[in-house]
Amino acid sequence: MAAGVTKMSRVVFERVTKHFGEVVAVDDLSLEVHDQEFLVLLGPSGCGKSTALRLVAGLEEPTAGTIVIGDRVVNNVEAKNRDLAMVFQDYALYPHMSVYDNLAFSLRMRRIPRQERQQRVLEAARILGLEELLRRKPAQLSGGQRQRVALGRSIVRQPSVFLMDEPLSNLDAKLRVQTRRELIKLHRRLQTTFIYVTHDQVEAMTMGERIAILCDGALQQLTTPREVYERPANLFVAAFIGSPAMNFFQAELEREADRLVARSDGVEFPLSPAQAQALAALPTRNVTIGVRPEHIGLGGELAKAGRAVLAVVVDMVESLGSEQHVTFSNGDSSIQARLDPSLALREGEKVLLMFAHEHLHFFDPETGLRVEDK
Ligand SMILES: Nc1ncnc2c1ncn2[C@@H]1O[C@H](COP(=O)(O)OP(=O)(O)O)[C@@H](O)[C@H]1O
Ligand SMILES: [Mg+2]
Repeated sequence: MAAGVTKMSRVVFERVTKHFGEVVAVDDLSLEVHDQEFLVLLGPSGCGKSTALRLVAGLEEPTAGTIVIGDRVVNNVEAKNRDLAMVFQDYALYPHMSVYDNLAFSLRMRRIPRQERQQRVLEAARILGLEELLRRKPAQLSGGQRQRVALGRSIVRQPSVFLMDEPLSNLDAKLRVQTRRELIKLHRRLQTTFIYVTHDQVEAMTMGERIAILCDGALQQLTTPREVYERPANLFVAAFIGSPAMNFFQAELEREADRLVARSDGVEFPLSPAQAQALAALPTRNVTIGVRPEHIGLGGELAKAGRAVLAVVVDMVESLGSEQHVTFSNGDSSIQARLDPSLALREGEKVLLMFAHEHLHFFDPETGLRVEDK
């Protein structure tokens, strides 16, 4: 943005807890959002995402813990003095004002001189492609254009941190994808810290430089989208990330001659030496094995060694054009696979599934924690 002052804008939660009566909305949360980072807070509805964001904004007070913005503890700093801007899902534009006046409004309220006001509004309009629309009223805009004006109103304020709470939820699917890309570009351009809240894993995976995953107010994992997918820290993250969701098998470890195998209902998972070593250290003989639907194949290439094989029945085929999602049944349990659309499968057909051992995930069923095997 035009103004050349560089502001340090990391955001730190230090052991932050927020209670609403009996409800623990945020539970002993510690995390640091780096200066200029695009961090996504992800989790199911009710897990405390909005509360965490509102704590940063100063709209809620923590029950315990410290919030730092830049180098300043802000627990006692009023919302309006925190130098941040928040964009919500339900933004309201002033209907009787033009786009220009909607953008200029907060600057006028803060008595920013006319010339600087105009400069900031035009700059925001340029960044968001709103230049042609400045004279229109909100009613004359599409949903996506209105959402951009709402973003523009936060941009003109040149905050050191942007807080966004599910800002794309009200847009239709196509516009959501487009606006998602615009937000990524916006972040690159503004070089400002973004904290973005969503329950949508696709938004989180595509937009976040890092993702913080919350469950019941507690941080589950904080890392890059790739790590979240490849090395989920626990069963919650493993089940939450990925669509269709990861398949889980309850298996028992058995020593056979001099090797360790994991045996589940109807399937035996051969283990690599590294996997066997990691699992041998578990306190119990039980292990939960996770396999993503994209890491399941049909048993045509049975000859390959080191593959676990399971006999199943085709239950349902959902074709998406570029791929097909197939549900198989194995007695009482079902297994989902993402397969090449050229494979012709009939419901009721018996097939063999294969799992590649290099793509297995292992979890301690007692604690739910990942067993690292690399
Ligand atoms: N003002 C409030 N009063 C009472 N309970 C609240 C309030 N705000 C949020 N909660 C509760 O805190 C929990 C977390 O809510 P929220 O932060 O809105 O979750 P999310 O944004 O992830 O859906 C929920 O159980 C919610 O009902
Ligand atoms: Mg929310």
